[in-house]
Amino acid sequence: MRTIAVINQKGGVGKTTTTANLAHGLVLEQHKVTVIDLDPQGHLSTSLGVENTQQPGLDSVLLHDRPIEECVREVRPGLSLVPAGPHLGDIEHHAMRGVKRGTLLRDAMVNKFQDQDYVLIDCPPASNLLVINALFSTHEALIPIAGDYLSLQGLSYLIGTFKNFEKLGHRISESFVMTRFNTRRRLPQQVMDTLKQYFPNRVLATRIREAAALAECPSFGKTIFEYRKKSNGAYDYQSLALDLAYGRTS
Ligand SMILES: Nc1ncnc2c1ncn2[C@@H]1O[C@H](COP(=O)(O)OP(=O)(O)OP(=O)(O)O)[C@@H](O)[C@H]1O
Ligand SMILES: [Mg+2]
Repeated sequence: MRTIAVINQKGGVGKTTTTANLAHGLVLEQHKVTVIDLDPQGHLSTSLGVENTQQPGLDSVLLHDRPIEECVREVRPGLSLVPAGPHLGDIEHHAMRGVKRGTLLRDAMVNKFQDQDYVLIDCPPASNLLVINALFSTHEALIPIAGDYLSLQGLSYLIGTFKNFEKLGHRISESFVMTRFNTRRRLPQQVMDTLKQYFPNRVLATRIREAAALAECPSFGKTIFEYRKKSNGAYDYQSLALDLAYGRTS
């Protein structure tokens, strides 16, 4: 079982789009996948057609010690979701539990997902306690990078955070996926080239192209494979699923 945090403190880079569609792409390759919505915005749940506020979610796991398996629901054959729940943001204000606050998710996941091939965690656009919980729960981070001018800014902070975890004896290996890629512009290609220079063999081979259908499908609660299975978006995320499974980098 591989647990992968889809993470970038920069907002709107495609974390949630990637989590939902990569997960479904992996399911279509016959893998069993659970996705965890670690963002109080609950966008991952919405993207998969689940009303986030209506049921117990990760909030009750982290705040009230509810067993995580009570919050897992199968949303498609082979694809399960732990929704965020309406109160996930409250964890930032909880003074209790001292040093264990950073490992609540890891502790809740122990021995819980062994029958799964992948657990993907959709992180919020922040560097807060929720993100620390994600990082303690995983040894793999997938970092979506949108190819605009500011994409690489802030990355050194994130990598610095990984280094700090390593000093604590917790190694996290990072890989990158180019998202919202506009093939007609030069800048995204330059961003990708720079990234490959700094992180050789860490940039997954597939670039996720900018595509209207990918932006549309969350409003229908569908993944791209359900909304437009013959589109560029479906092709790209299927290809990305294979990159992840076989370690294909560019
Ligand atoms: N490849 C793409 N082509 C077109 N639109 C995209 C693509 N990827 C994401 N989007 C759109 O861009 C917006 C941001 O994407 P998304 O919500 O996945 O980013 P995020 O990193 O999860 O954002 P946040 O930081 O708020 O959690 C959404 O409206 C989404 O539909
Ligand atoms: Mg998101």
